[in-house]
Amino acid sequence: MDDGLITPPAHEPTVAEPPSVDVVTDALRTVIDPELGSDVVTLGMIPSVEVAPDGAVTVGVKLTIGGCPMRAEIKRSIEDRISVHPGVTSVKIDWGEMTPEERTAAMTTARWNARERAPETAIGERCRIVAVASGKGGVGKSSVTVNLAAGLAASGLTVGVLDADIWGFSVPRLLGVDQPLEATEVDGRPRITPNRLPIGDGMIEVVSTGFLVEESTALMWRGLMLTKAVEQFLRDVAWGDLDYLLIDMPPGTGDVQMGLARLLPRTSLVVVTTPALAAQRVAQRAADMARRSFLPVVGVIENMSGFVCEHGEHHEVFGSGGGQALADAVGAPLLGSIPIEAALADGGDIGQPVILSSDGPAATALRAIVNRLRDEVVPMVPSTDGIDMAGCSARLLAAVETALSEADAQSAD
Ligand SMILES: Nc1ncnc2c1ncn2[C@@H]1O[C@H](COP(=O)(O)OP(=O)(O)OP(=O)(O)O)[C@@H](O)[C@H]1O
Ligand SMILES: [Mg+2]
Repeated sequence: MDDGLITPPAHEPTVAEPPSVDVVTDALRTVIDPELGSDVVTLGMIPSVEVAPDGAVTVGVKLTIGGCPMRAEIKRSIEDRISVHPGVTSVKIDWGEMTPEERTAAMTTARWNARERAPETAIGERCRIVAVASGKGGVGKSSVTVNLAAGLAASGLTVGVLDADIWGFSVPRLLGVDQPLEATEVDGRPRITPNRLPIGDGMIEVVSTGFLVEESTALMWRGLMLTKAVEQFLRDVAWGDLDYLLIDMPPGTGDVQMGLARLLPRTSLVVVTTPALAAQRVAQRAADMARRSFLPVVGVIENMSGFVCEHGEHHEVFGSGGGQALADAVGAPLLGSIPIEAALADGGDIGQPVILSSDGPAATALRAIVNRLRDEVVPMVPSTDGIDMAGCSARLLAAVETALSEADAQSAD
């Protein structure tokens, strides 16, 4: 019987070919050791790559020291970069540890690369960079960014905030800062001095086009190349010795993310979504874009997840489950869910991040997210006076180098 429907021809499902060892190795060149600032292939951390005919990939990884706190992060980045290839069915890592000679070679390479790259941006090598993004506007990126920055600063750290929302900036208002940015000469070159905001023992250093223009004239900036403005903030700002740089991204995906991937490939992305599943799909587009531009998504934050009324009852205003669903889809952890709370919006209106002044549910959720970021997801690289490279591998290396030169001195005696 002809029912008028056209039956599509039957196709065998196409099975993607496994990638070659070279393709996997190239993908690994985008995995940056967070401490040493160079990619894991260049650093000699990848002794072997095997690709089985069924698409199972096994990567040998030699850490500078076995107990390196960056291990979980390196693992995640490697899995992320390789598993996006359609022909890959699984990723396995064989862990190993470098010999002292290999460590010395890795450190020499890292130092050399750090020097070569130095003029690229004004962001210090040990600074951890986290961009806060979403596919859709109005989900709370800027509120989350300033609260995370304030929370990190309150724990004694120096935190840069770069407002990459060039024409929709809201960071100045949210932090209650409005002085125009000054320029000074540093090493014979004009540099923008960020606005500095002491918080407890820590400090926020912030730049925004909001400090350059009146809010009402911001539209004129539309003519300006977006990425150029962000690039200038990265290159020409006299940033201090930052522990973290948080970047408040404009809504949507595109130019700015690609620009960041080029200028600061070690940027990690945190995606904010509301609990509604539609918003989650939009956020996923941002995450997909990040993957294509090789920025790793390190976590998802759900914002406006329900409302706790004065009787303590929880009401789900914008649906539920979007944060976890997105986290599962992008393979990154859900870092926390921030409920709707008037105190958070009010804090924004008066330039006082709620995390500093409240014990309410939103501030409590934000504090837990700050702790997870600092201790687990993008752990801080400690600063070590007198050594130009910092962190566990570098400190260990410095100790090895000292021991070796002492041994040399003794044998020369
Ligand atoms: N958890 C929350 N509880 C109550 N209000 C919130 C919450 N999160 C954000 N808001 C409010 O929602 C509005 C949008 O937040 P915000 O400006 O941070 O979003 P955004 O994603 O940066 O927006 P845009 O895409 O325009 O840059 C603000 O008025 C803010 O105060
Ligand atoms: Mg914003």
